[in-house]
Amino acid sequence: MTAPPERIALPRIMGHRGVAALAPENTLAGLRSAARLGLSWVEFDVMLTRDAVPVLFHDKTLRRTTGRPGRMAETDYAAVKDLDAGAWFHPDFAGAGVPSLEQAVEVLLAEGLRPNVEIKPTPGRDVETVERAVPLLRALWPADRPPPLLSSYSVMSVAAARALAPDWPRALVVDTVPADWRARLEALGCACFHIHHLRGREKLVREIHRAGCAVSCFTVNRKRRAQALLDRGVDCLITDDPGPLEVALQEA
Ligand code: G3P
Ligand code: MG
Repeated sequence: MTAPPERIALPRIMGHRGVAALAPENTLAGLRSAARLGLSWVEFDVMLTRDAVPVLFHDKTLRRTTGRPGRMAETDYAAVKDLDAGAWFHPDFAGAGVPSLEQAVEVLLAEGLRPNVEIKPTPGRDVETVERAVPLLRALWPADRPPPLLSSYSVMSVAAARALAPDWPRALVVDTVPADWRARLEALGCACFHIHHLRGREKLVREIHRAGCAVSCFTVNRKRRAQALLDRGVDCLITDDPGPLEVALQEA
């Protein structure tokens, strides 16, 4: 019987999809930008290619960030690795590829970043995505570094993460908070609850803490919103743009 994970100490500010306002989301350039800004943690999304390679990617379709037709779940890694996921954001980032999870880990370790790995399964691949991503992460992540946080909207994915890495912290992600949130967090052995910033009310934050979990809110990009959430006891703000939030922290 493995002991449940302890409540995790989260940073006040965590980069979202790298730092999505400042560099193209879910790219190695984004991870490096987060490190350059002095962040210690970064969130990114992990999805499978058709041939089950875990890559950093958010949307089901390739269009928005690569300009190409098609779906990630129907595209082999051989084609994905040649996509340009930077040019849409700014010409300076042209040529930034869709990184494999393996490439991302190399950068995280080199930059001293701790990841919040959001498992983003395409339909029907909730468990498979974890089965591909988590053993790879465990093989690459040094035992003497604090482990990645594994998170997902998918209850099935979080449960699979628990089965494969019971000693690594987990988080459930929600846009709306279900009535049975406490039972869900407990059943999944979550260390954190990642909630949409509009749900970050003081009473709920207090109750989540009482249930033994840390609270993070996404995606917080405005100073006043950040201040309000910190005042309510939210532990961590997941942001595209750390600048305004750092001002909020200084003024707090
Ligand atoms: O993990 C928090 C946040 O990243 C969830 O929303 O759509 O940006 O992945 P999304
Ligand atoms: Mg995400």
